[in-house]
Amino acid sequence: MDDVDRAVAALRARGSLKWTRHPDALGAWVAEMDLGTAPAITRALHDAVDRGLLGYLPDWLADDVAAAWCGFARDRYGWDVPPERVRPLPDVLAGLSAAITHLSRPGSPVVLPTPAYMPFLEVPPALGREVLEVPMARDGDRYVYDLDALDAAFRAGGHLLVLCNPHNPIGRVLEPAEMLAVAAVVDRHGGRVFSDEVHAPLVFPGHRHVPYASLDQVTAAHALTATSASKAWDLAGLKYAQLVLSNDADAATWARVGYPVEHGASTLGAVANVAAYRDGVAWLDGTLAVLDRHRRLLADLLAEHLPHARYRPPEGTYLAWVEGLGVDDPGDLLLERAGVAVVDGARCGAAGRGAIRMDLATPEPVLTAIVERMAAALRGQSDGSPGATR
Ligand SMILES: Cc1ncc(COP(=O)(O)O)c(C=O)c1O
Repeated sequence: MDDVDRAVAALRARGSLKWTRHPDALGAWVAEMDLGTAPAITRALHDAVDRGLLGYLPDWLADDVAAAWCGFARDRYGWDVPPERVRPLPDVLAGLSAAITHLSRPGSPVVLPTPAYMPFLEVPPALGREVLEVPMARDGDRYVYDLDALDAAFRAGGHLLVLCNPHNPIGRVLEPAEMLAVAAVVDRHGGRVFSDEVHAPLVFPGHRHVPYASLDQVTAAHALTATSASKAWDLAGLKYAQLVLSNDADAATWARVGYPVEHGASTLGAVANVAAYRDGVAWLDGTLAVLDRHRRLLADLLAEHLPHARYRPPEGTYLAWVEGLGVDDPGDLLLERAGVAVVDGARCGAAGRGAIRMDLATPEPVLTAIVERMAAALRGQSDGSPGATR
């Protein structure tokens, strides 16, 4: 067994979704990390299980999460939020569903910049809402919001804009000026924003997470923010997230309608979120240093093995967006011919066609093997140049 086989065998033995859905492929698809768990979280969970803290979410524990997150947000983002404005959610997608159902104009389409996190295309239709895909524009090699196209989507009847920052899948961390420009469009149309900030703790040196609702009175008045420790500390299965209410009207609405949603939040998830925000910051920073190396390693690997691929290392998140692979449906092809499971970009909206989203949070030998296998499969498919197989 070489290093890769050993690492993969250990990952599969753990039994995670990422490493068991496609048992014959290397897993780089779902946003899970293969980098272990913060010891503070493991300890807190063991302690809660040993105490038998397995019933409904107690009020004191929900309050503890709110206080822990507020401390983290103050230290990390300079955002001072009163703890009573931070409510439990089972997950971020439950927050999106609630925003659509309770805060957007009944029946209105949802405005979605694309490429987008795949479920953002699926949740609105499941609630009877249309999605208005708004392809992002390019400024050199980076994606930016297309303000004119956003404006047109609101003119076409859109009401709730889904903002994702840091962005899955393209890895952008928005600058305040960009967000203020988006906010001006939203405000002009009396629109709302669901600000998904689940990747906020995962921002690389040179970039800074600025919460959208923290920018000014206008953004606070039209935004609903959701975040969680679930991505940065790899806790998605524990089902706990934070809804941040940044204006009195939404706080009043939530007091009326929030209970059935809050009921889904889990007690052990709350325990883990407190441990993450309070005692898991050193682990987070260590993990970010590893991910920082991986985002650069991927650039080197692609330059060596797939020189035609286009990739801009993410500014935040542990997801990589790779374009220019020279095939229209790289996801299927890579699964079948390379034995590598990634997300096909078309699942992120029409603007993502031909791209892939891949997960960088895996041991270095595995990441290297993933790219080598991809390159071998794409060489077998074509001469490796973009468009060669069309
Ligand atoms: C941007 C974004 N939002 C939401 C989610 C899902 O979060 P949850 O499991 O809390 O609904 C993910 C998961 O990868 C994500 O990347």
